Amino acid sequence: MSEDLLEIAKRRLYPNYKPTAFVPVRGEGCVLFDAKGQRWLDLCAGVAVSAVGHAHPKLVAAIEEQAGRVMHVSNYFYNEPNIRLADELCKRTGYSRAFFCNSGTEANEALLKLARRHYYAKGEKNRLRVIAFDNAFHGRTLGALSMTGTPKYREGYGDLGPVTHVPYGDLDAVGKNLNADVAAIIVEPVQGEGGVLPAPRGFLADLRALATQNGSLLLIDEVQTGIGRVGKFLGHEGETKADAIALAKGLGGGFPIGAMLTTEELAGALPPGTHGSTFGGNALACAAALAVLKILDEENLVEGARLKGEALGRMLDATAKELPNVCEGARGAGLLRGLVLKKGFIAREILPKIFDAGVLLTAAGENVLRFSPPLVVTEAELADGVKLVRGVLSELKTA
Ligand SMILES: Cc1ncc(COP(=O)(O)O)c(C=O)c1O
Repeated sequence: MSEDLLEIAKRRLYPNYKPTAFVPVRGEGCVLFDAKGQRWLDLCAGVAVSAVGHAHPKLVAAIEEQAGRVMHVSNYFYNEPNIRLADELCKRTGYSRAFFCNSGTEANEALLKLARRHYYAKGEKNRLRVIAFDNAFHGRTLGALSMTGTPKYREGYGDLGPVTHVPYGDLDAVGKNLNADVAAIIVEPVQGEGGVLPAPRGFLADLRALATQNGSLLLIDEVQTGIGRVGKFLGHEGETKADAIALAKGLGGGFPIGAMLTTEELAGALPPGTHGSTFGGNALACAAALAVLKILDEENLVEGARLKGEALGRMLDATAKELPNVCEGARGAGLLRGLVLKKGFIAREILPKIFDAGVLLTAAGENVLRFSPPLVVTEAELADGVKLVRGVLSELKTA
């Protein structure tokens, strides 16, 4: 990155992030290049976003084609990609209705508003509380943040509304907090930001049963786990069914789009005027998402994520075994995997060394190196990346 550009960035960008001094100017599949042509293996995919890799020709063509016709008309009118995407997502998931927005946070904000308005309309005006989980991540707007389970993210923002956080996986704690004021339980099938922690077996189905018993909704946040990331189209597929779910990240393959999918029973919860978005579901974003879904099918990427994910899991297990002084173990599902470091190692502090070795990763929680590569990654690329990371870890002084 040139000194000039870095100087402008430091002076002009709002300093709420701490980015690495790296400006990728071009990408191809799982590789990103800087202006000098130096290459990095991207095993983070912009935090589990670039599902079909960088510059996939079919995604690029779909965006170009739609941009050349019509990008945006607002929700005062229909647009064809929006209708087709709603239909496509509902057919793939078994949900019945789609609301589109622009991010994961917004999708979760919609879930929260949906739950509260649903009971408001039924005359249960005090059913406002949500049960969420410690270390959950649902986003940063005040509503979504109220459900996010990391206290430091909520600190300083005042009273964010009635949300009770309980330990992830602790069914008894959920049961103890389920009262007549609980509108919904919200859960991630794998806690992504919280440390790539999969839900215990049967947990989602048990939550479904508890929610139903209590007359509450079950909301599933599939922002990080959805769109094939964990080796099936949705993380909760085959385990249970929610009342509504949130999608984003991989859905647009890098083009910003989020979605809430609901059952037909909830179609009346947010009537016209109760929720909306200027950009949400615009023609360009929906055309991008439709192209992503088509590419997933054509390249068999969801099944691929399962198989390559298993291979990655084995590589990370082997790494953990080889470096027992640095690594605690490995966990995750599909192509969302974490290498858990021993207490005393801070994942974020190791990322610059991994970057210098030519690999892009992110941290999840305090001590987990997160692997969330594009779903088009090859097993050879995974092996290269893990080898480079292992090299970095083997040089670390033990804590
Ligand atoms: C599970 C989950 N929900 C919500 C969000 C927030 O999504 P966004 O950053 O697109 O607003 C994230 C982002 O990491 C996430 O992992």
